[in-house]
Amino acid sequence: MKAAIISDIHSNLEALLVVLKDIKKRRLKSIFCLGDLVGYGANPNECIDLCIKESKLIVAGNHDWAAVNKTDVSTFNPVAAQAIKWTQERISKDGIAKLKGLSLTQTVDNLLLVHATPKDPEGWNYLFSLEEFEKEFTQFKEQICFIGHSHIPAAIYRDDNGYCDIVRDNPFPIVPKRRYIVNVGSVGQPRDLDPRASYVIYDGNKNGIEVVRLDYNIPLAQQKIVIGGLPEVLADRLLAGR
Ligand SMILES: [Fe+2]
Repeated sequence: MKAAIISDIHSNLEALLVVLKDIKKRRLKSIFCLGDLVGYGANPNECIDLCIKESKLIVAGNHDWAAVNKTDVSTFNPVAAQAIKWTQERISKDGIAKLKGLSLTQTVDNLLLVHATPKDPEGWNYLFSLEEFEKEFTQFKEQICFIGHSHIPAAIYRDDNGYCDIVRDNPFPIVPKRRYIVNVGSVGQPRDLDPRASYVIYDGNKNGIEVVRLDYNIPLAQQKIVIGGLPEVLADRLLAGR
């Protein structure tokens, strides 16, 4: 199986269209989406429709569930909460139904898909340090777990002896005796100081994983955020990549 794995689109239509075009160009038939379709950007309905239409599997992100009142927005920072309120005022009935229907996890072959963490998907915890990643390996049985949420692409492996480390190559081979947690980064709001859209190609036939980065029309996405009346800091951070 070969698949593209996308996450954290955050209503950024410009970034999503570029990513989908690249996936089509590479003739990848399956797209798995790790959630956060909405929040922060100016095109929630378009992004929900496209993600649902193009993805074979989708899981819910915290912003998706916050937008439909399934997650408490009081845990969000003020700007994120403001963007959720903005989204709620514009999201279609159909969009609400679609977001409400998303589940927290999906499995396919030897892969687990979850937005935040395998241990407590609804706790929406973040994995940043190697130690935080390491603790999660006992919480799933599949060989590879794909996550989003932090908007920072990363791959961590655990070998047969329980040794964990960061995978530093890109692309990198899937070693049979290793298990992996792979953060695919963010399509619509990268936070690793690289403003380009991020997604991952999983190639189960050739046993490889690659993080792909793509330029997109950031000024247009920024303009829509400002004209739409969303907080301007959300436009600024797209260019800064943080
Ligand atoms: Fe997110």
